[in-house]
This record gives sequence, C-alpha cells and structure tokens, in this order.
Amino acid sequence: MNFPLHSRALLLALMLTGSAAFAADGAPKTAPASTAPAVRPGHAGIASANFLATNAGFEVLAKGGNAFDAAVAVASTLSVVEPESSGIGGGFMATLHIAKDNRDVFIDARETAPMAVNPRDYLNPDGTPNRDAALKGPLSAGIPGEPAGLVLLAKRYGRLPLSVSLAPAIRTARDGFKPDSRLLGAIREEQKNLERWPASAAKFLPNGQPPADGEIWRDPEQARTWELIAEKGDAGFYHGETAQKLVDAVHAAGGNWSLQDLANYRAKERAPIVVDYRGYRIVTAPPPSSGGVAIAEILNILRGYDLAKMDQAHRAHYIIEAMRRAFRDHNDYLGDPDFVKMPLDMLLSPFYADGLRQNILPDQATPSSMLPHGPAHDPGMHTTHFSIIDKDGNMVGITSTVNYVLGSTFVAKGTGVLLNDEMDDFALVPDQPNVYGLLGSKANAPQGGKRMLSSMSPSIVVGKDRSAVIGSPGGSTIITQVLEGILHFIDGDSAQQVAAAKRFHHQFLPDVVYVEDGVFDAATSAELKKMGYTLKPREPWGYMNVVTWDHRDNKLDAASDPRRPSGLGKVE
Ligand code: DON
Repeated sequence: MNFPLHSRALLLALMLTGSAAFAADGAPKTAPASTAPAVRPGHAGIASANFLATNAGFEVLAKGGNAFDAAVAVASTLSVVEPESSGIGGGFMATLHIAKDNRDVFIDARETAPMAVNPRDYLNPDGTPNRDAALKGPLSAGIPGEPAGLVLLAKRYGRLPLSVSLAPAIRTARDGFKPDSRLLGAIREEQKNLERWPASAAKFLPNGQPPADGEIWRDPEQARTWELIAEKGDAGFYHGETAQKLVDAVHAAGGNWSLQDLANYRAKERAPIVVDYRGYRIVTAPPPSSGGVAIAEILNILRGYDLAKMDQAHRAHYIIEAMRRAFRDHNDYLGDPDFVKMPLDMLLSPFYADGLRQNILPDQATPSSMLPHGPAHDPGMHTTHFSIIDKDGNMVGITSTVNYVLGSTFVAKGTGVLLNDEMDDFALVPDQPNVYGLLGSKANAPQGGKRMLSSMSPSIVVGKDRSAVIGSPGGSTIITQVLEGILHFIDGDSAQQVAAAKRFHHQFLPDVVYVEDGVFDAATSAELKKMGYTLKPREPWGYMNVVTWDHRDNKLDAASDPRRPSGLGKVE
C-alpha cells in the first residue's frame, strides 16, 4: 500500500520562511549566536573510545592547550590506537562551541571524490554492483580530509603548535602500544583483505600474522607522516613527499588519484544546523552530513506531541514515524552543498514538520513505500566519536571515520596511511543500497571533487541548566542514536545514562524497527506489533561518548559507552 506521505512540492512552494541557518541553495548564513552560559567549569571532561586517546587529550590540556588542541591530540592518537575506526587516511566532522566569542562553528573535513572518479568502476561487467571496488582497495578511497581538518582546527582555534598537540600520537606510534581486543579482532576479521596489499600486510600483519594478544605494536611510518604534518602543516600531507607516495601507491594498485586532487583538498567551515527543542538549543551537523537535517526534522515533528505523557509504545510510535519521514527525505534530497541545491529551508521548517505530522496515525504504523532495497548491513562500530569540554567552557564533538572496518584495508606504501573506503557513502549505483542499507538519489551521485553524504552528527546541546556534547559511530544509526541521546539528556539523564540507554532505529527502508535487547518491555513490543511494526532484534550498536556540564553546580561528567571495551570518560 502506498500512502501519500506528504505533498512536498506543494509545501516547498509554500515555504517562504524557516528557522534554518541555511539558504535554500545550501549556502550557510551566519549561525545565530549561542546561548551557552558565560560561567566556566574550571575543570575539563573528555570521553573517547580509547583510554590512550583520552589521556593524550589531558596531556595536551596540561601543556596549556584548550579543548581544540586536545581534540587534535585525541583524533591523531585514535588514528594510531583505533585505526579500524578513524584516522589519518579518513575524514571527520566537528561541532565546536567557542566560549570566548559565544559562537558555534562546524568543521567539514569530509573526504572528496578524486576528479577521475568513474561510476563504471563500481560495476561488474554484467552491470551488477561491484561491492569489492566500493569497499576495498584504492578505488574505494576518497581524498582524505582528516589532516587538513586537524591543521585548520589547531591553527584557527587552538593555542598550541601542532608539534605539541600531535606529540602524543607520534610518540605512541613510534614507541608502540598494546592493541585492544577490538583492533585485534578487526585485523583478524580483515586478514584476507590486508594480505592483498603488501604495505597493508607489512603494517597490520607483522611476521605475516595479526599481532598477538599483549604484544607491543608500532607504526613508525605513520609517526613520520604525522611529524611531517607537525612541521609543515597541510603541505606535510597534501604536497611533497607524502602526496607523491600516496598517488604512486594508489596508481600501482589500480586507483585514480592525482597530485592535483590532494593539492585541491580543503577542509571547510560551515554554519551548523541549529534547532530549538523544549528550551534546549541543539547545534549539529549540516550537509554534507544528513545527520543534523534529519535530527532537526525529527525534533520538529516531535515538538507537536507531549511524549512525557505517553505510554512507552506511543512514545516509540511517534519517534519511529518521525525517523521514517526524516530518512525518506535524507534519501531523496541530500548531498554535498557545494554541488547540489537542497530545499533546506523546507526540510528544517516547523511548518513542513506540521505537514508531516498530519499523516501520522495515532495507533498505526505508516508502511514505507515499496522502493527496491537491500537488507541493512550490521552497523558495526567502525568510526569513532569523542566529546570534550574544557575549563573555559569550550566544547567540541568530533565524529571521525575511515568508514567500514579498517577502511579500504589499503595502506599506501611508505606512509603508514590506511586509506578510507568512504566512496561507498556515495550513491555509487542508482537504486542500490550502500553498506548501511542507505539509498541515495542523484543529489549524492559521485562526481570529481564532491563530498559523499555522511550520517555523522556530532552535536552540542545547550540548555539553561545543563549542556552536553553527544555523538556516536554506527553508519545510518548515528542519526537515531544521537537523537535518542538528546531526548534522554533533555529528560534529565546523566552522561552515563545517556551513553548506556538502550536503542531503537528506523531508517525508512528497510521498513523495520531495529531493537536492542531490552529497549522495549514485552507489553510495549506487543503493542508496537499490533500497530503494524516489524521489530527486528539486532546486536547492540554504537559507541557513544558523552560529556555533560551542569551549570547549577558547574560540574562536568564524562561517559564512554558501556557496550565496548577500552573507552574512557574522565573529568579532571
Ligand atoms: O560518514 C558516514 O556516515 C559513515 N562513513 C560512517 C560509518 C560508520 O559510522 C561506521 N560504523 N560504525
């Protein structure tokens, strides 16, 4: 059955005003001034997916750095100790609150497609999608954004030279560390792919095997590349020796990067998406992330209901219906704002949400339309998020990724740089889902120099009494995790409770609600099924790292997702 979900064309024509920080063509306007309190916490909180990275952040704070220097230290150290999730060959998105200016900023260090990108490279000779080209080896890799993004962050917002903020990563890569069970598991899982490329095997399979439990593992080539970045900034990666090695390695393995692709790469500042909900101001990721638009659309829909007065089943019902509608728009409209016109004024408008609310039935699921789709893949935990608040009240959330586990599994010889497989985040083959089951439209088709759409949603929630930095990995589930985290935080939950809260997820297609064990009690599940929902149990997902700030007693709190080992939330 096909429901007329919404008459978007008509609404588009009617939308003359909106609350968005964006023009209809996606060009950022200035973000409205923040309402973050002027009081300073006097101490700092960091939560990341690895204790070595959290400690690297505190080391740099102790040297006189601010939250943004600490973020450079955490991100670069994660590149060394959690390479399965993010790193020097990947990209990130960052939401910042600059306390002294009471200003919010978004940094887009997302990868771009090389100019020579050719959609036919992602098809088999019989026209079926070539998933190996999309996910493994150099054709799957976009031009990395992480080095340029960290250089921008340090130079524009940090206090310390890169030689100080990158020092913990360089030291850890050179002296070595004991990989945690997640990294060892990822190397074992991807051993066959790593063996396909000699430099990947040399880095991850010393003596031809994954490192043994408890063995010290070193990455001197990555240390050297970070050193070049510390000395020369962008030029240490995007020009000269490193750039030449990257391009040579990619070509030797059948890829199509050019020196010009690297030289042209720029990290960009964009105006964040800002949405008000129940007295809180949520500052989140704009395109080329779909996350902030979807979160804003969902919150705008939910604004029309009193969730607190509902039973569990109805609360979940309205949240799921809002998720369904936001993900539909995600698939239809969103892409790189530098390449596509997006109706953001419409998508972010409260009037548009009013329209969407009209066809949500009180006791019945709305079936998603029957578009061709494939099963969503296990969202995995390969991407990372960390949150920082410093003693001056600067806040930063960074979600950073090489995309799927160990990215492309391709290491460029002589650099220690593991390349991402972010090209799969484009709609590479029309009407075919990516690894997260997401479908895309022309707006997210691959094109030279274009950024692929992301779900990464680092978010800052600012209230009169409490504020928080929230984010998580998890592919398409990032959006719903962050949304649920925001709702739990606004309901009064602590950092630990927000990170631990059980999760559910709906992404329009496939038309199922993914449920973590224990998220709904038996009666709620029965009621939801009666409303027409298909509930599908899934292994726990996400790796949320949260820092909260209570303005009433000026206390910080930091929590790392209890679902995973190695994470550390710490306040000092
Ligand atoms: O940018 C994105 O949306 C994806 N590349 C993120 C991948 C991810 O979160 C993987 N794992 N959990």
